[in-house]
Amino acid sequence: MRVSTNVLLGLFLGGLTLVGCDCHGPEPVWNPTPYALEIPPFFPPMDIPADNPLTEEGVRLGRMLFWETRLSENNEMSCGTCHLPEVSFADPEPYSTGVTGATGTRNAMALINMGWASSYFWDGRALTLEEQILEPIPHPDEMNLPWSEAVDRLKNDETESDYPQRFFDAFGTTEITADLVSKAIAQFVRIMISSDSKFDQWRRGETSLTDSEYNGYQMFLREGGDPEVVPGGQFGADCFHCHGEAGLQFTDHLFHNNGLDPSFEADPGRALVTGNPLDSGRFRTPTLRNVALSAPFMHDGRFQTLEEVVEHYNSGGVASSTIDPFMKYTTGGLALAPSQKADLIAFLHTLTDTVFTQNPAFQNPH
Ligand code: HEC
Ligand code: HEC
Repeated sequence: MRVSTNVLLGLFLGGLTLVGCDCHGPEPVWNPTPYALEIPPFFPPMDIPADNPLTEEGVRLGRMLFWETRLSENNEMSCGTCHLPEVSFADPEPYSTGVTGATGTRNAMALINMGWASSYFWDGRALTLEEQILEPIPHPDEMNLPWSEAVDRLKNDETESDYPQRFFDAFGTTEITADLVSKAIAQFVRIMISSDSKFDQWRRGETSLTDSEYNGYQMFLREGGDPEVVPGGQFGADCFHCHGEAGLQFTDHLFHNNGLDPSFEADPGRALVTGNPLDSGRFRTPTLRNVALSAPFMHDGRFQTLEEVVEHYNSGGVASSTIDPFMKYTTGGLALAPSQKADLIAFLHTLTDTVFTQNPAFQNPH
């Protein structure tokens, strides 16, 4: 599919070159280089939309746009202002502040292995990265720049960034559109892959886990509860149901109510998208990759430390009409011993990947 599109476009442009060559010399030929995406060991394939294949030129342009402050009303804010590399491209503030000084109502989550997500935002309202990226630039609480103005700024760019040329190199046209801006940024975000945490290295047989880390991992994977009291209980921490390691992203990509609140007026979550009251209080399970770097936690950034998060689950959480069946220890809690909590946290730290956060290919190129 990818190849044939390129070949067809190549033939088309080749044709243009032939007919157009009598006056101003040969037309420029569009010949993008496919990006050689490496899927890490044990990861599933990445689903890439057929109409936005990765190219070297597209990824390079996407990186420039991700870090482009001219895409905000006051020329001061880029995607990277709220998605900071050192904290795994998350925001260390519970709520982000936009160019107008207005704050949003949700925590900016880490951007990591986004190419494997199946929906975006805490409520899953965007189904593709391309769709997601259309939102922050015109959003009044974020970059607050209408798309028409954003596109004009790029079209009339006379700086060394030379966007018209870069759009041609990436997409074969200088006709810049919101759609192409989001496609380029999506290409960049797809290559932001983390696969070098201690856990990954251990999975590849390159290192060993400490006893505490390994024990924490085993607890993560086991059912909670005392088997004498709870049928099937394994004295575990019961995390795997929702943060399953299948696909190695530590999320099931689904929506759950993990027992944060007794009612949902403040933020109904998934119900805002589906209109279904049964979805109230449900949010997308976040990945746990780099979680030790990306505090504060939960959709509203209510917890500052992993200790608080583990205590939340240990307590069993708050009962409500839509609490998830997997939060089955609402009464009594998981009853983990202090050393077990410490082990669980030690395991969560093995998901930290600073090769990813420090990767020069992701930093501000301007
Ligand atoms: C003002 C701060 C701010 C800016 C600027 C910003 N974001 Fe975000 N981003 C957020 C917040 C807050 C969320 C979560 C919002 C929600 O879920 O409702 C988010 C969510 C996302 C997500 C979804 C991640 C997931 O796991 O679902 C992606 C991807 C993303 N942003 C990419 C970008 C890109 C690309 C840009 C630049 C075009 C950008 N953001 C600009 C604050 C910001
Ligand atoms: C019922 C499904 C479910 C279970 C079981 C579960 N989680 Fe979660 N987890 C979620 C959801 C959903 C969220 C996001 C909730 C929100 O923000 O409203 C979340 C959020 C988190 C966060 C915050 C991540 C961030 O980026 O903000 C951490 C850390 C976490 N869970 C760890 C764990 C651990 C450790 C366990 C086991 C003790 C566990 N979870 C069990 C569904 C679950």
